Amino acid sequence: MRFHIQGQKKLTGTIHVSGAKNAILPIIAATTLTNKTCIIDNVPRISDVDTMLEILRSVGGSVAWTGEHQLTISNKDLELQPLDTKLVKRLRASVLFLGPFLARFQSFSLPEPGGCIIGNRPLDSHLEGLRALGCIWERTPQSYEVSHSGLVGADVVLREASVTATENIVMAACAARGTTRIINAASEPHVQDLIAFLIKMGADISGGGTSTITVNGSNSLGGAQHTVIPDPIDAGTYIILGIASKSKITVTDIRLDHLDVVLETLRAMGAEFDRLERSIIIHQTGVLKSEKIETRIYPGIPTDLQPLFGVLATQAHGTSFIHETLFESRLGYLSELEKMGASVLISDAHRAYVTGPTPLNGRNIECRDLRAGASLVVAALIASGETSIENAQILDRGYEKIDEHLAQIGASIIREDSAN
Ligand code: EPU
Repeated sequence: MRFHIQGQKKLTGTIHVSGAKNAILPIIAATTLTNKTCIIDNVPRISDVDTMLEILRSVGGSVAWTGEHQLTISNKDLELQPLDTKLVKRLRASVLFLGPFLARFQSFSLPEPGGCIIGNRPLDSHLEGLRALGCIWERTPQSYEVSHSGLVGADVVLREASVTATENIVMAACAARGTTRIINAASEPHVQDLIAFLIKMGADISGGGTSTITVNGSNSLGGAQHTVIPDPIDAGTYIILGIASKSKITVTDIRLDHLDVVLETLRAMGAEFDRLERSIIIHQTGVLKSEKIETRIYPGIPTDLQPLFGVLATQAHGTSFIHETLFESRLGYLSELEKMGASVLISDAHRAYVTGPTPLNGRNIECRDLRAGASLVVAALIASGETSIENAQILDRGYEKIDEHLAQIGASIIREDSAN
């Protein structure tokens, strides 16, 4: 699928932010911890959610859309059977079935998960954490075979504050006998949201949002109703679009407290905006200044917004230093921006310099991962002329109908199926 985007259209009005992708994916997995019904609201209509639900259905989960953004899930008939390798390979988040399935069954076979190619994404922290809780595991050429004879709480020290490893261990620990303490846990808003959901299900968890999480295991979690938090990355994407395109737009339905460092960095770059309770009103920004953009775990600048800051840097005066500290393959979008006229120096897999301001011109470019894709859409909207983005279906994995969403504020994006 291809997007054809006409640049420099006047953008104006209000754009709504969807529920958080990286919160709903572990929450879907967490519904397997109970055989009671769970109702989840503010679920984004994105293809990663569809894939997680397809995996769940394939093992006996009963899933229904009971509203445009509401899911009702019952896993009372869940069966232990191999997951469909093709589905698991579609997204990295399929790894999130590991923890809850081991909480429910004594063995689990996880095919090697796929997902965005953004660097080396090992599973050692997940597996070592589960080993501490009493699991044994073996890696075969196609899968991870994990089993146990009863989970037991333990201290788990993560070498990396991995988001999905923290989530897997928290979910497994809910069924472990005794207390689990996760040290160097991830504290991202989506980890906090999963914990909020688990607490509603009856779990005894403290320390969510800090680097030490304590779980007192219990065997009986019940159903729960929960509303997913707004997506901070969706919000950041549209806020940066407003600033980079010098538009007067409002980004609404957001949690500002999840974006403190992002907003402070944007202000340091010269962006002008007002903070309301659940919205940001962006004013037509004057001169933007370069800035050092270094990705950090929460509450720092999230790696998922690094490519968006990269586009903004092309419109800022001076040289911005971009340091992607988490992943090794997340600067590829800069080569596409270079084709559009950006001045870029990539010094290694983690570091680049972008010098601006440079006008961007419409070109044929390609998107290789989700957040790179979002940055190219923003670049295309501020560029002169038409940009064609190949592989644009990747955007549907994490942004709800981004073309229709952006059309509401005046963007012109035409979706063309590759078959045409
Ligand atoms: N890491 C290890 N060992 C592990 C796991 C991770 O060394 O066992 C390292 C990774 O190599 C990386 C760092 O830890 O350097 C962080 O990786 P993490 O495990 O936190 O990433 P993830 O859990 O696979 C989630 C999000 C990503 C987001 C990262 C970082 C989900 C489903 N995915 O991935 O989201 O970039 O955290 O915040 O929550 C996206 O939405 O586009 C996306 C890629």
